[in-house]
Amino acid sequence: MRILVTGGAGFIGSNFIRHLLAKDPDCTVLNLDKLTYAGNLENLADVEGQPRYQFVKGSICDAEFVDEALGMGFDAVVNFAAESHVDRSIQDARAFIETNVLGTEILLDACRRRRVPRMLQVSTDEVYGSLGPRGRFTEQSPLSPNSPYAASKAAADLLAHAYFHTYRLPVIISRSCNNYGPYQFPEKFIPLFITNALADEPLPLYGDGLHVRDWLHVEDHCEALRLILKRGREGETYNIGSNSERANIDVARLVLRGLGKPDRLIAHVTDRLGHDRRYAIDAGKLERELPWAPRYTFEAGLLETIRWYQKNESWWRRVKDGDYRQYYHRTYGDLARPRPQSG
Ligand code: NAD
Ligand code: TYD
Repeated sequence: MRILVTGGAGFIGSNFIRHLLAKDPDCTVLNLDKLTYAGNLENLADVEGQPRYQFVKGSICDAEFVDEALGMGFDAVVNFAAESHVDRSIQDARAFIETNVLGTEILLDACRRRRVPRMLQVSTDEVYGSLGPRGRFTEQSPLSPNSPYAASKAAADLLAHAYFHTYRLPVIISRSCNNYGPYQFPEKFIPLFITNALADEPLPLYGDGLHVRDWLHVEDHCEALRLILKRGREGETYNIGSNSERANIDVARLVLRGLGKPDRLIAHVTDRLGHDRRYAIDAGKLERELPWAPRYTFEAGLLETIRWYQKNESWWRRVKDGDYRQYYHRTYGDLARPRPQSG
């Protein structure tokens, strides 16, 4: 299997590439990533140089470049490339529309023209909007996105669906709940709280802290995606979740307990605009059809993640300082417009 992974230098994409290379000895991966502020090739330093892995810098919004890359011939495309942080989308939605909507359309179109046998669009439960105290999202739940980020992901999902319906493009959509684990950019809730607590800095908890998220370890997400890629049905959508609903304030307390730090580091701050109250996923379809089951409990996975950030302080310090952006230039040189290489 030759697989093109877009956005593979980010949090989930880099974990997915490592997971795939370890699990499927026959697969080769080309990682196509624009290296935005969230893309960090250090996340893949341990697979760099493996003959089954290659990286090329480029954007999914560059139609000519994407078409040329796909011309190399792939058995599957997995699209992680996205702007992914809700708070940034509230500040300015433009990049979200460009990459998440236009970029996905460019990728879908190139997959259609190049007759790629399988495409996986990696999406999110946030497209379903917010839940009240009861109930869970199924694949039949109506799309009701509330943030510009969620709206851009919903638009991409609708385009993927339309390409299946109109052109029979063999595309599958996955919708995961919130992920946590190694290599997550420390602007997101869990790594931000871990790294702030490690530095004895306040943990900025939005509003009353009673917002609920369903937490999935990134390794469990990656295994679900690997199985969906292998055995998922074309034109279908699969929810991915692990029944690990937690209120933000409880997660904050668990992080502090895991580090032996006091609860007084929690600082209640102004709430996020339009903050969704609760997400919860019904992953029954995936569990029955693939089948798939998560391996991590939230408490064990969180503790392991806390230990990872403790052990990898130089990684997150460089990310927080912005120094990680030099890695590409040290490794690949300062190429003006790198082209995909075959092989
Ligand atoms: P991330 O922000 O850590 O990584 C995104 C990656 O995409 C980065 O490497 C970035 O450089 C790259 N990228 C951005 N724009 C690009 C472009 N135009 N062309 C090529 N590459 C580009 O995000 P993540 O948390 O790893 O999320 C990956 C995907 O999974 C996203 O599509 C996101 O919507 C989805 N998702 C994330 C979560 C979560 O909890 N993090 C949950 C469900 C779904
Ligand atoms: P986040 O990691 O941004 O994921 P999402 O908004 O996509 O679910 O946030 C997870 C939860 O944590 C969400 O309810 C917002 C909250 N949050 C805080 O309370 N403080 C913070 O500094 C951040 C980044 C998030």
